[in-house]
This record gives sequence, C-alpha cells and structure tokens, in this order.
Amino acid sequence: MGFNIAIDGPAGAGKSTIAKRAAKELQFIYVDTGSMYRAIGLYMDRQGLDLTDEALISSRVSEADVSINYVNGEQQVLLNGENVSTLVRTEAVGAMASKVSAYPAVRAHLLELQRKLAKEADVLMDGRDIGTCILPNADVKIYLTADPAVRAKRRCLELEQKGIPCDPQAVLQQIIDRDYQDMHRETAPLRQAEDAVLVDTSSMTIDEVVNEIIRLADAKRKQEPEM
Ligand code: DC
Repeated sequence: MGFNIAIDGPAGAGKSTIAKRAAKELQFIYVDTGSMYRAIGLYMDRQGLDLTDEALISSRVSEADVSINYVNGEQQVLLNGENVSTLVRTEAVGAMASKVSAYPAVRAHLLELQRKLAKEADVLMDGRDIGTCILPNADVKIYLTADPAVRAKRRCLELEQKGIPCDPQAVLQQIIDRDYQDMHRETAPLRQAEDAVLVDTSSMTIDEVVNEIIRLADAKRKQEPEM
C-alpha cells in the first residue's frame, strides 16, 4: 500500500489546483477522480441518453472504459482509449458527472480502478468520497472547502482569465446546485470524514493551503517511520 492522502470537498474549492501542486512537491501521483466521473458523463451524453434514467445509465456503464495515463507527470483520462482530459473540463460536463455519479453502478464501476491506483503508489487523490468510502484508511484526510461566494468569485476569475465572459450569479447558482446534488445523494454523498482535517480556504492563498497539506503529510510520515 502506498502512502495515501485523501482530499474531498465541494466543487470549486480549489481541490485540483492545490492537489496537483502538493502532489508535485511531495513527489506523489495525483489522482483526479472527478475527471473519471466526467468521462462517464460525457460518454452517456454522447450516446444521447437521458442522464436522469438510473436504470438505463446503469445498464450501459460497462461500455465506458475509463483509464488513467500519466504524461510528464500530468494525469490524462482516457475514455475507451480516447484522451478526453480537456473535453471534460467544462461546467456542462461537470453537471453531467454530478448526475451520473449519484448511481451506485457508476460508482462501483470506478471504485476498483481508484483503489488499485492507491495501492500501487503514493497518491494524493481528490474527489467527494475518497476519505469516506474509497480510502477509509488513508494516512491523511483533508476536507477542503470555501464559502460558496468565494468559490464562485474564483471560478469567474478563472473563466475571465481565459477570455470567457462570466455571469457571477449564474456561477454561484451552479455551485449551489452541484453542492446540493453531491451532498444529498444516497450513495457516497459528499461529507467530511470523521477523521478528516477541515481546511477552509476562503481566506487562504494557494501557497498557504499547499503548505498546510505538506505539513500534515510530513507530520504523519514522522509518526509512521518506514518499515
Ligand atoms: O471534482 P469535479 O468537479 O471534477 O467532479 C465532478 C463531479 O463528479 C462532482 O460534481 C461529483 C462527481 N464526483 C463524485 O461523485 N465522486 C468523486 N470522488 C469525484 C467526483
């Protein structure tokens, strides 16, 4: 088993930016599980399927072969062999992922891949249920969150920097909707694991958050000398 760091939290809390940087500094492999759900959402949408039809989506999930590849340390997500890493980054695909990820068959489809990655290497894995379901024995668990208004503001800034106009009210509403959906589903809802450290990034810089994660990992590693 590798040394495992689990980071969970709501949409837009900065998980991927922070996890990517912390993983690089720690020389861990970064595993972005959201992109795996995004790939499944994209597959179902491309098939023209009704994403609210649980029985239908569950019966087709085995058609979506999701795998992970690393190129120069960057994670790529492959959908039936196609690199969809960039395609899945839109808010529309995020909303699709949020819908299909509520179905137990979809979650079961990805569980093994996620656990296998954590077994094989030192990983920093982010998602919604990593500390609660996927890696209940993770060495370090972090629940990363921020005020919804702060998350919306950051998201808008990110879009505007890419030259994409942003409606702050609409982005805030998307965040509130996705939080609700991810926290209120029956299977593996987003919640803070009992043994997770809460990190509220509302008034923290990226560097401060990354340093906090490294500090937590180092403290744990000192407690657990290598065998
Ligand atoms: O982190 P993200 O925005 O890329 O995730 C997209 C959606 O996928 C999110 O709204 C809920 C779902 N998801 C999940 O249910 N479990 C995970 N471990 C990761 C993501």
